[in-house]
Amino acid sequence: MEQNKRPETMERITTAALAEAFISQQVEEIRAQVGQKKVLLALSGGVDSSVVAALLIRAIGKQLVCVHVNHGLLRKGEPEQVVQVFRDEMDANLVYVDAVDRFLDKLAGVTDPEQKRKIIGGEFIRVFEEEARKLEGIEFLAQGTIYPDILESDGVKAHHNVGGLPEDLKFELVEPLKFLFKDEVRVVGKALGLPDGMVYRQPFPGPGLGVRCLGAITRDRLEAVRESDAILREEFAKNGLEGKVWQYFTVIPDFKSVGVREGKRTDAWPVIIRAVNTKDAMTATVEDVPFALLQHITARITAQVAGVNRVLYDLTPKPTGTIEWE
Ligand code: XMP
Repeated sequence: MEQNKRPETMERITTAALAEAFISQQVEEIRAQVGQKKVLLALSGGVDSSVVAALLIRAIGKQLVCVHVNHGLLRKGEPEQVVQVFRDEMDANLVYVDAVDRFLDKLAGVTDPEQKRKIIGGEFIRVFEEEARKLEGIEFLAQGTIYPDILESDGVKAHHNVGGLPEDLKFELVEPLKFLFKDEVRVVGKALGLPDGMVYRQPFPGPGLGVRCLGAITRDRLEAVRESDAILREEFAKNGLEGKVWQYFTVIPDFKSVGVREGKRTDAWPVIIRAVNTKDAMTATVEDVPFALLQHITARITAQVAGVNRVLYDLTPKPTGTIEWE
């Protein structure tokens, strides 16, 4: 357990200078641990895996192999941003796996939320395993474990590890962020040159949009969730709410309602907006979004997102609602 305890002497990383000192020290340690060997990393594009990737690229360059699995449940623009930042700008060794059809085929017709989560998690491990087997000479696995993962679960949170890998793929772990709190990870990410949109990103669940497209996922509703979420994020950013509101997103239920457009009746889905604030995600309050902004977002979503004729705002704190809808 001692090796999983943050040293008491470790200063809180709050400035760019402290981040640089941390980065230099980690670069030394990673090089000493890894030598000339190769390291594998599942790079989702979330804050933690992105910061680990940038740190390892600084330390060992192309000895790091990043695998980005696009399971079709990421937000608009995210897979493209991973390729742009890591392959184009940082010249990383990046394997991009388009697994969209594979995930959506497995999820077709599955309505139970826990079953959906299991399928997404299980399929992710299988895709990652297949990619790992194609590579030669990998001896290490890097993970974006951070200190709250260790404190909260006495180990590593499921979404931060690929712990379901079979025995012959159990690599030695490289976990350079394991003593950092989230705010420190962000300071380090900024010092490593990652874009703000990546470093200050709001929390996003491992199963992604899969749990925001309620019930059995269909491609058309999934696109509607992705497009409406992109509009919401754009409007929150424009109106100074990005970075102020803890988590905000859209949800689409699996039923339609009647509406009217250009004098004709429509039968289309509602979009639900959720915007909440919390410290620890155990309880949450609803953001008091200006009514005029909600009306503007409603107008944009109903005009621009195919298959949607209503927009609702979820006024429920946690409890009694959870933050996600399933
Ligand atoms: P709830 O809905 O339980 O969410 O109030 C609390 C926080 O956890 C996130 N969440 C998840 N994160 N895998 C994840 O990695 C999941 O299956 C999952 N479900 C909920 C949610 O987005 C919120 O930040």
